[in-house]
Amino acid sequence: MNSCKVCDNDLKNIVNFGPMPISNRFLPAPPEEEFLYELSVGFCSECYMVQLEKTVDPEMMFNENYAFFSSTSKKMENHFDEMAEDILEIIANQTSPFVIEIGCNDGIMLKNIAKRGIHHLGMEPSGNVAERARENGVEVFTGFFNGKSALDIMEKHGEADVISGANVMCHIENINSVLEGAAVLLKNDGVMFFEDPYLLDIVKKTSFDQIYDEHVFYFCGLSISELAQRNGLQLVDMAAQGVHGGSMRYFLKKGSKNRVSENVTRHISAEREFNLHTLDGYLSFQKKVNKISADLRKMLVALKEQGQRIAAYGATSKSTTLLNFSKIGPELIDYICDTTPTKIGKYTPGTHIPIKSHQHFQTDSPPYTLLLAWNHQKEIFAKELEYRKKGGKFITFFPGINIK
Ligand code: SAH
Ligand code: TYD
Ligand code: ZN
Repeated sequence: MNSCKVCDNDLKNIVNFGPMPISNRFLPAPPEEEFLYELSVGFCSECYMVQLEKTVDPEMMFNENYAFFSSTSKKMENHFDEMAEDILEIIANQTSPFVIEIGCNDGIMLKNIAKRGIHHLGMEPSGNVAERARENGVEVFTGFFNGKSALDIMEKHGEADVISGANVMCHIENINSVLEGAAVLLKNDGVMFFEDPYLLDIVKKTSFDQIYDEHVFYFCGLSISELAQRNGLQLVDMAAQGVHGGSMRYFLKKGSKNRVSENVTRHISAEREFNLHTLDGYLSFQKKVNKISADLRKMLVALKEQGQRIAAYGATSKSTTLLNFSKIGPELIDYICDTTPTKIGKYTPGTHIPIKSHQHFQTDSPPYTLLLAWNHQKEIFAKELEYRKKGGKFITFFPGINIK
């Protein structure tokens, strides 16, 4: 039996995907052998946390060769400019505020704080993206945030007014230690906030590609409320975010007697309506995953049999789960186009599909394109108006298969 990383209770299995490679490990050449781990998700009925049953060593995922650079989407640039504005509002009345970001990546958010001369620190274990953040004027400590590093930061920089994180808290297995550390590091009236893909959106859409090695947890208000309480913090507000296919921002404060926004009550009752507090809420998930996966493969095979060529758009880490689980490889997809320079010329983990440049996609103009970066659909459709005008078609798959 696997046990809960928050409360040690036994986990109940929700979904299995079988052996998977490291999701962001794009390969210089198709290898003889690849590291694989068993990808499956379980539910804890004690603290409501949905989580991976088996995890991968963080140093295998977050290192010098990390493939994901945050600043590859215009929409995300805007989103993080707005997040920085939100932080400025929170610290408006502080005389010498201190702002921390966990997982600052290439500095997409924190550069906005840095350029205003505000005392800040980014914690980022992946050396290559941390270096990019430094080039963007951000002060970065190359390392993992945890209970110990929280104490080190406090000793060196003092207490924090804001501790923020986007798409990173759900990556950290020793989550109790992170929150414990944050509770120590925060000023008494300080705020911790973070956002991650929202479990309710994942369940509603069956967007199972959000499940991969880096995403150890799938948060919702129910689980964050419990998690906060166990670590001397309180969930005081929640705000839905229209990014990454549906994310949720959680605001935490120290203690247990803060004013709690009615947003928390509202979101948690919606979660209860979908039964996210019992195993019942997850019983049909595997079946729906299997159906989407089988339907998608069937459609791609049928197109191939008609002699059509199919490419894909966005070599995302998410797509590692979709492609490997659905057994979609180079026999169905000619190549994936991506704008990230370090991904171009490489091959996808497990499925070994070549990654090509965006220019290649534009000149090639394949009749069908599987939209792997579906969370950026609006931005990509705006960019590919010409392609669609000329008759090019995008294939999407959540909540069901669609040709657009
Ligand atoms: N915040 C950015 C990056 C998300 S990707 C965005 O939303 O676009 C997740 C990032 O968190 C990676 O850059 C990874 O190296 C970093 N990370 C992973 N574990 C971490 C930890 N324990 N502490 C700090 N950063 C971590
Ligand atoms: P994303 O969906 O943000 O993340 P993840 O890896 O966590 O699943 O990744 C988007 C990928 O798509 C990234 O490799 C950059 C690429 N991309 C393009 O190639 N063109 C675009 O217009 C956009 C928005 C993204
Ligand atoms: Zn638990």
